[in-house]
Amino acid sequence: MEKFSQDDVLAVLKNVKYPGFSQDIVSFGLIKGVVIEGAEVEVQLILSTNEPKVAAEIRDRSVEALRTLKGISDARVKIDIQAPAAPAGATGPQKLDGVKHIIAVASGKGGVGKSTVATNLAVSLQRAGARVGLCDCDLYGPSIALMFGGNDRPMADDDNNIIPIQRLGIQLMSMGYLVEDASPAVLRGPMVTRYTQQFLKQVAWGDLDYLILDLPPGTGDIQLTIVQTVALSGVVIVTTPQEVALIDARKASTMFQKTNVPILGLVENMSYFLCPSDGVRYDIFGSGGGAREAKRLGVELLGEIPIEIALREGGDVGRPVAGFAPETVSAAAFEAIASRIQKTLPV
Ligand SMILES: Nc1ncnc2c1ncn2[C@@H]1O[C@H](COP(=O)(O)OP(=O)(O)OP(=O)(O)O)[C@@H](O)[C@H]1O
Ligand SMILES: [Mg+2]
Repeated sequence: MEKFSQDDVLAVLKNVKYPGFSQDIVSFGLIKGVVIEGAEVEVQLILSTNEPKVAAEIRDRSVEALRTLKGISDARVKIDIQAPAAPAGATGPQKLDGVKHIIAVASGKGGVGKSTVATNLAVSLQRAGARVGLCDCDLYGPSIALMFGGNDRPMADDDNNIIPIQRLGIQLMSMGYLVEDASPAVLRGPMVTRYTQQFLKQVAWGDLDYLILDLPPGTGDIQLTIVQTVALSGVVIVTTPQEVALIDARKASTMFQKTNVPILGLVENMSYFLCPSDGVRYDIFGSGGGAREAKRLGVELLGEIPIEIALREGGDVGRPVAGFAPETVSAAAFEAIASRIQKTLPV
């Protein structure tokens, strides 16, 4: 009689996290087969990465986990590696039809200004003549509907794809357009993955030069789903000059590097405050942190955004500064960031 069941095997493998992520390899669907023969177990995994270190780490940790099974004599883990950016129909991250570049805006720490950067970057790219979409992947705390204003409801097309909301010439999708009051309680586990995939693949984005993804903070299930679902051209990491934010920015960068997503650069937000009455500069969260961290990571510092009242106000009332207050310092900074990105990722 077998000493342990398939369920026992899966239970111990659930302790193995995908390197750099909070999700485990079982719930992410990497297990393709479990063969138990007496006291021996062989597990087959399927992975889409071209980083041998990731596969090796998963193999080692899986074997380690399997050895904790009572009475096991031999544990083997076979990994079938599929190249990322596989053609349609295969597993692994794919391009979206008609979309030239998908760019994620991410951070380790919450509240550092991802949504503000994603919004104004999208507007600046649009003003520079690009066709732009913006997908709010923060299912728990959507901001994009608020930052662009409007309370339209998206419709579905004949193929049952969601038609994005159009504001300021940008195609938008956000949980904020779908539910009155996005409650985190309604989204758990696999549903988060499914919604994220739907937001990317079941929206009629049309032909776009850039699709910007506004991510929630951290390195959780939504981030993992995104890197496994769509082939990202790159990621923009947002941080503030504070050490706590920089440490988390480093963690986020590591996660993207591990999954082979190029880091387009760092944006330092809330860099300084220019007092409107006397023009004196205050480095409220310290200074130079973004530049130092960019150097450390070997990536570009894409820009430094000051703390500006107009930027916060514009975000709250659906009038992003990049479109409505081009004379502000932050709008100029966003324009420069957009032009850097256009140079790095030409269309
Ligand atoms: N440079 C800035 N000057 C003034 N206000 C700012 C600036 N950057 C962001 N804010 C304000 O700070 C708040 C948080 O910003 P935002 O929502 O963009 O952060 P976030 O990183 O997306 O947060 P979360 O992690 O919750 O998604 C918003 O009210 C925004 O308007
Ligand atoms: Mg946000």
